[in-house]
Amino acid sequence: MSYQEVYQGWKSDPEGFWMDAAQAISWDKAPQKALSDLGDGLYEWFADARVNTCYNAVDRHVEAGRGEQTAIIYDSPITHTKREISYVELRNRVASLAGALRAKGVEKGDRVIIYMPMIPEALEAMLACARIGAVHSVVFGGFAAHELAVRIDDAKPKAIIAASCGLEPGRIVKYKPLLDGAIDLATHKPDFCVIFQREQDVAELIEGRDVNWHGFQYGVQPADCLPVEGNHPSYILYTSGTTGQPKGVIRHTAGQLVALNWTMKAIYNVDPGDVFWAASDVGWVVGHSYICYAPLIHGNTTIVFEGKPVGTPDAGTFWRVISEHKVKSFFTAPTAFRAVKREDPKGELVGKYDLSCLEQVYLAGERADPDTITWAQEKLGVPVIDHWWQTETGWSIAANPVGIELLPVKLGSPSVPMPGYDVQILDEGGHPVAPGELGAIAVKLPLPPGTLPTLWNAEDRFKSSYLQQFQGFYETGDAGMIDEDGYLYIMARTDDVINVAGHRLSTGGMEEVLAGHPDVAECAVIGVADQLKGQMPVGFLCLNAGAGRDHGEVVAEVVKLVREKIGPVAAFKLAVVVDRLPKTRSGKILRGTMVSIADCTDWKMPATIDDPVILDEITTALQSIGYAKG
Ligand code: COA
Ligand code: AMP
Repeated sequence: MSYQEVYQGWKSDPEGFWMDAAQAISWDKAPQKALSDLGDGLYEWFADARVNTCYNAVDRHVEAGRGEQTAIIYDSPITHTKREISYVELRNRVASLAGALRAKGVEKGDRVIIYMPMIPEALEAMLACARIGAVHSVVFGGFAAHELAVRIDDAKPKAIIAASCGLEPGRIVKYKPLLDGAIDLATHKPDFCVIFQREQDVAELIEGRDVNWHGFQYGVQPADCLPVEGNHPSYILYTSGTTGQPKGVIRHTAGQLVALNWTMKAIYNVDPGDVFWAASDVGWVVGHSYICYAPLIHGNTTIVFEGKPVGTPDAGTFWRVISEHKVKSFFTAPTAFRAVKREDPKGELVGKYDLSCLEQVYLAGERADPDTITWAQEKLGVPVIDHWWQTETGWSIAANPVGIELLPVKLGSPSVPMPGYDVQILDEGGHPVAPGELGAIAVKLPLPPGTLPTLWNAEDRFKSSYLQQFQGFYETGDAGMIDEDGYLYIMARTDDVINVAGHRLSTGGMEEVLAGHPDVAECAVIGVADQLKGQMPVGFLCLNAGAGRDHGEVVAEVVKLVREKIGPVAAFKLAVVVDRLPKTRSGKILRGTMVSIADCTDWKMPATIDDPVILDEITTALQSIGYAKG
């Protein structure tokens, strides 16, 4: 079947399409009904089913006789470690961990925060929660104590599972002090913490609260898989919105199983037993869907890579891992390829490895610039597929479905909508625009299985953020267009979210931190174009009258403050002091105009600007840090 046939097949019978896809899942009670319309724009998939995610990701492969197949390959160039975990070993380890969690009182529906680096135990912790119906919430290791505290207060976990440390090149990130700091800051306190001690930094445990990962499993009864309702939350993953309060994206159990399993062949073109590698982090949605769940549900071998595209030890690391572990489909972020390309522009390191196993490469997380795609295609000699998705959707909205049909690649486009997504470009009034015209990208409701049904503890925010702008549609927050051939182009965010090195960050969240500095009267943060990371945050600070402070000192202080409050991942290194911020007459800061000035793209003087002269000062300030230089 062609892509068109598959897509039209879905469109003519959406529920039938997903009921067919559901047959690949091992149900305790198969769904009788695909979609439930709860009214008011809310929908659920396969709510009447009963199923267990861990059973589908682990046990069923063992029962089918594939227990000896490698489930997880851990490859850590940072610690010089390589290790393989078979499906049967994974089942035993996860059942034991799940049994220990249950013995300490974790039950179905209880939340468990996981704060771990890229080690197999992170996946085991996720699967152990799924095994007993607990709802995990993984927090990325590059976030600092304050961000962790915000998530603790929102998710109210019964337990936190953390590693003693993470490893960045040349630096040990001690997680335990961050964890202790976060629990101190948070109002909610977990009953207990499970600490996985790494030899690079063994942490001191707090008597009565902390237990040792291995020790607390001693003598416990391994847990069986507990079937849960199809609409039971599988996890909460916090993502940046327009404010410092992150949005808790919920994923329901059955929809995730059905949708992710479907994508593995249709989009990623792998069959059970093939090796699939997503070089991301478990703290992001790509890590949830494509390091942990999808490859395991589909019976693939997944790779947990603890390293960077460059410097661990060189720009050939990706090619070594692909070659050594026989990766068939590889998924990374464009920024990672830009980093490799910068170090090895001619791709000389590619030639050192036999990459005959590699059939296709996937890019997502940010806009894939045509230069990067062309470079990768030339050097690797395989299709390089851009695909577009969000934490909210959990899998791609638009892609080139290689396992169905490799469509012609159009540079700059993540190709076409996937079944489940009726993507439309709307003008401000919510009317569809003509092909080739820019507008807000919206998806007609209902969204497909595996996407967010709502936000954790924040249904009103779910509605106001996504459903209210365009009646009957999910607003993606991205702007773009669809061409005559139905290919999508993603141009920019319509909100204050920026994308730094494939990491989604909130400029509003950074502004909240800057505003907390005692000498800052007013501030703005914008995302400016960056050759390596796609975007970089830049802060503008107006100081309190009479502050009398050295500007350089204040800048250094706010840079430190963002690192302490949000974390190193914010990559906030640049700020300038200005007298005033450019605003409209109604007082709205003209961030878009500031971005255009910084990036030297065409811009028009906003008709509503209060005082155009301020833009000269902004230009001079940006020039002083290397931007706006035409
Ligand atoms: N734990 C602690 N700190 C972390 C971290 C983690 N898990 N991940 C990143 N950081 C830190 C980095 O060490 C860096 O700290 P520094 O300011 O002391 O140098 C800071 O956060 C910024 O990180 P990053 O923006 O990632 O920059 P980098 O210079 O370390 O690496 C790249 C640049 C391009 C190599 C890297 O960003 C990369 O591999 N990106 C791919 C991202 C990706 O896969 N995204 C997932 C979406 S698919
Ligand atoms: P995240 O939720 O971290 O996955 O970030 C989602 C956002 O990243 C999207 O809303 C887009 O703005 C951007 N994004 C992700 N993938 C792509 C892509 N292939 N092309 C352009 N932008 C992308």
